[in-house]
Amino acid sequence: MTEITLYEVGPRDGLQNENIPLETDEKVIFINMLSATGLKFIESGAFVSPKWVPAMADSSVVMTQIKKKQGIMYPVLTPNIKGLDDALKFNADTACVFATPSETFSKKNTNCSVSEAMARAKEVAEEALVKGMKVRGYISTVMFCPYENEIQPLKVAKQAEELAKMGCYEISLGDTIGSGTPIKTKHMLMACRDAIGVEKLAVHFHDTYGQALANILVSLELNIKVIDTSVGGLGGCPYAPGAKGNVATEDVLFMLNGMGINTGVDLEKICEASKFVFSKLGRIPSSRVFNALESKNKRKKLL
Ligand code: HMG
Ligand code: MG
Repeated sequence: MTEITLYEVGPRDGLQNENIPLETDEKVIFINMLSATGLKFIESGAFVSPKWVPAMADSSVVMTQIKKKQGIMYPVLTPNIKGLDDALKFNADTACVFATPSETFSKKNTNCSVSEAMARAKEVAEEALVKGMKVRGYISTVMFCPYENEIQPLKVAKQAEELAKMGCYEISLGDTIGSGTPIKTKHMLMACRDAIGVEKLAVHFHDTYGQALANILVSLELNIKVIDTSVGGLGGCPYAPGAKGNVATEDVLFMLNGMGINTGVDLEKICEASKFVFSKLGRIPSSRVFNALESKNKRKKLL
């Protein structure tokens, strides 16, 4: 049976954009609930500047209080050496470095040029590897940038190659504003695959324009085995105007289950985590599958 890994970004990407952040103890409960779903990767925080992303300011407390389960990785974002030092202090297992081919997005998101961001990523990756951490790389705006519009696949592929050379075990390709469509996705992925091989690639689709599942299907056809998702469709980048949530974990899981693809993740438990976190945020999940299953359960109760 085909196996696909779901890499959950809800507690980080999902919550980084909330104007009224979740309470720390609620984040801890949320992550502990996710740890019981069968997920093997739960991105749990970001050691970024609290002035830039206030909602992640409590990542150190979160990392101390969650009940880490054996066999699960709890990666965190580390934009620079200060972030890495904090990640090490709080025993994070994986450092996530991030970059973009867009000069404008780089400046807006990390206050530096593309080459400066890559130099920082290299410094962080080298140090993290020495300290025994794993290093994951993110590339944002892989198809479209909110400031520079279309991004050429070869630029993304070149950056993926540089991140792989730094020692990133995996490079997650981010459609930050969710406006990529399947053919564009295919061209971008093929360029990256030709540069570093498909084994090192993961995909990270925001679902702003409802294209994520179609793009994921294209990724599966190209043999990509790791998909970033976010419970309930939480998410967005504070420096990418208009960016909506990541593709919902429930929606991807429902599609993969229907295709007979194994992830080891329990849909019912994901829905419980979704219900919990959205009840704390005071709104309903955007996940179509979550809402369909909720309605179905309500109908069942009436029978
Ligand atoms: P800067 O202002 O240029 O940093 O920000 P600086 O080095 O000049 O330092 C300024 C202040 O920030 C100092 O404090 C530093 O100590 C502090 P002060 O002296 O003023 O009190 N500082 C830090 N504090 C905590 N942790 C740190 C840190 N570094 C400096 N690591 C910086 C540069 C990169 C730090 C900033 O721009 C930043 O934090 N950016 C992160 C933005 C972010 O998190 N964006 C969202 C994540 S990326 C994303 O969502 C995309 C993704 O999901 C994929 C996709 O969808 O495309 C991954
Ligand atoms: Mg993202």
